[in-house]
Amino acid sequence: MKYIVTENYEQLSALAADIIAAQVIMKPNCVLGLATGSSPVGTYRELVKKYEAGRLDFSAVRSVNLDEYVGLKGDHPQSYRFFMQDNLFNHVNIKPENTFVPCGIAANLGAECAAYDARVEAFGGIDLQLLGIGVDGHVGFNEPDEVFAKGTHVVDLLESTIQANARFFASENDVPRQALSMGIATIMKAKKILLVANGEQKREVIEQAVNGPITPKLPASVLQLHPDVTIIFSKK
Ligand code: GLP
Repeated sequence: MKYIVTENYEQLSALAADIIAAQVIMKPNCVLGLATGSSPVGTYRELVKKYEAGRLDFSAVRSVNLDEYVGLKGDHPQSYRFFMQDNLFNHVNIKPENTFVPCGIAANLGAECAAYDARVEAFGGIDLQLLGIGVDGHVGFNEPDEVFAKGTHVVDLLESTIQANARFFASENDVPRQALSMGIATIMKAKKILLVANGEQKREVIEQAVNGPITPKLPASVLQLHPDVTIIFSKK
């Protein structure tokens, strides 16, 4: 595991974008696993800059996002589909039909989860998975639990996550109580993993994830078992 601490968020974002750009340049039709949340926003901004400067081509890239809220349509401003369009997809030449986010309004959520995993398999897995981390150690929406979840599944969000994400909604009551999330096994099968975290409030959980016991009670700790993980942390 590579653990890099940067001076500030700008450096974190520039470094993360360089790693993703290298992946796209080395394998133009790579499969990128993408994440939402505030931490990767700067990374996406840097990727857009590289694209605008003519240094990156997303035309053959395929992307699969980690998660989505249950019950939010893709045009809801707090849906993760909307986030991805707004922060990345609308600003680069990735083909819309090559971008995948779990569908939180599917009539049959179980079937949606199974189809999502089948698609990732059919793509030959994820080349590079970008992750953020929740203050409770969740990755995607894999909440602390007794066991590591394997495939894409429906998650009951923990109160702490609902509270942490309430800042994006008009009120805490508006935060969906469930989400669809890729499982830990799908994430761990990615060839490379890049986790970005910023802010003093993440220091403790990062320390635990990197040096603490490997336990589903802190889902990100499982990354210690992956052969190619880079974690970039900035305290501000
Ligand atoms: C949400 C997302 C996670 C993300 C986490 C942290 O819960 N499902 O994928 O990592 O938020 O977000 P932030 O980077 O805003 O702290």
